[in-house]
Amino acid sequence: MSTVIRNGTVVTADLTYKADVLIEGGRIAAIGEGLTSDEVLDATGCLVMPGGIDPHTHLEMPFMGTYSADDFESGTRAALAGGTTMVVDFALPSPGQGLLDALKMWDNKSGRAHCDYSYHMAVTWWGEQVFDEMEAVVKRGITSFKHFMAYKGALMVNDDELFASFRRVGDLGGIALVHAENGDVVAELSARLLAEGNTGPEAHAYSRPPQVEGEATNRAIMVADMAGVPLYVVHVSCEDSHEAIRRAKQQGKRVWGEPLIQHLTLDESEYFNPDWDHAARRVMSPPFRNKLHQDSLWAGLQSGSLSVVATDHCAFTTEQKRYGVGDFTKIPNGTGGLEDRMPMLWTHGVGTGRLTPNEFVAVTSTNIAKILNLYPRKGAVLVGADADLVVWDPEAEKTISAGNQQSAIDYNVFEGQKVKGLPRYTLTRGVVAVREGALDSREGHGEFVAREPRGQVNRALSKWKELTAPRPVERSGIPASGV
Ligand code: URP
Ligand code: ZN
Ligand code: ZN
Ligand code: ZN
Repeated sequence: MSTVIRNGTVVTADLTYKADVLIEGGRIAAIGEGLTSDEVLDATGCLVMPGGIDPHTHLEMPFMGTYSADDFESGTRAALAGGTTMVVDFALPSPGQGLLDALKMWDNKSGRAHCDYSYHMAVTWWGEQVFDEMEAVVKRGITSFKHFMAYKGALMVNDDELFASFRRVGDLGGIALVHAENGDVVAELSARLLAEGNTGPEAHAYSRPPQVEGEATNRAIMVADMAGVPLYVVHVSCEDSHEAIRRAKQQGKRVWGEPLIQHLTLDESEYFNPDWDHAARRVMSPPFRNKLHQDSLWAGLQSGSLSVVATDHCAFTTEQKRYGVGDFTKIPNGTGGLEDRMPMLWTHGVGTGRLTPNEFVAVTSTNIAKILNLYPRKGAVLVGADADLVVWDPEAEKTISAGNQQSAIDYNVFEGQKVKGLPRYTLTRGVVAVREGALDSREGHGEFVAREPRGQVNRALSKWKELTAPRPVERSGIPASGV
């Protein structure tokens, strides 16, 4: 079975040109003019782009006394509906649980995926077993390790553990990921706010000001530099954190920053909504910020100091959010966005002139494919690449509404937003999953994508670290000890 996408404009991270795309056996077989095949998808007026890659999802994740409501089935369905053809989810060992044991749990959940997926491994505690199993995890094709500097008493690791783990990741040729917030300060601020009667969802934002994120980002950058490991900072929400990343990049450090579509388009005023449910549904860490921070994130995407737009999709129902009535620290942290990331970024980025279509492809797909050593199998429109493609109709419009979303939850944080720019077709390894804008995907079609360690950046960084490592000075005639 072969398929041709006809009459479209191919848009990649660096090129825009008219061409047909021929797909055979799930891969791109040819790109050129006048290609024909059994099945023809008409892309007139559309852009043919690499499918989106969302490198930050939490599907069916045990967290804060419950499980996130979207699993690999509904989550990847939402992804495809919005033009995303691959997700990278976090395998999360509970404290004391082995990494391989956690992987087994994630393997049991991911079999239902509609699109391809990979995992990051979270390091939620430290010990010999974790150190040892990290190597086996890398051999299984999982080369990125996430560390929480927040969620004290649950997932948080301390600086000594962070340093030990970062060094191990560096030695294994992987990349270190951090959730950067100063968990000690957040815990203290939260306790004080509660004691003073600040129990509502707005106190969640008060408890996590930009400063705690900026400090932790600076700390993670320093620790990664000492450990000689490339660093990827997830959910960068503010100028304080962006500034640290920008400075590190200017110093030649291998650091990447990932803003979320939520932080780019929603602001802190959401938490002051008089409707408790409205505010609690938007509780996530870090919280939404003011316009100055939003402008900083957009500028980062424009200038290249921020590299990837993700969702951190971690959806909880209103009922789950209500666990935190009377105590904001018990509101499950997380928001959805998988279906809306690409249309929202196109509308607010390309639609306003803040991003070019090529930059859109870079930050939704190609950059993360390169960072995770998946390129050009994913994130490319090239002969031989997986046919994970989106045929994007820049004129198609809709109003986002929970009533017609794929996500399992009962609301949408983007409810009522008008978007212009939607998938006409989404293809996952050559199989059409969105046809004429309607979802037609298959549960279980998704496959695990293994990744190789020691990508180009790792090799360059290790070479430099080796060259500049401390060495004893060779001396002749050392004087006798002065005692
Ligand atoms: O609030 C959030 N972000 N929930 C998901 C877990 C995490 O910190 O990424
Ligand atoms: Zn996080
Ligand atoms: Zn509301
Ligand atoms: Zn997350």
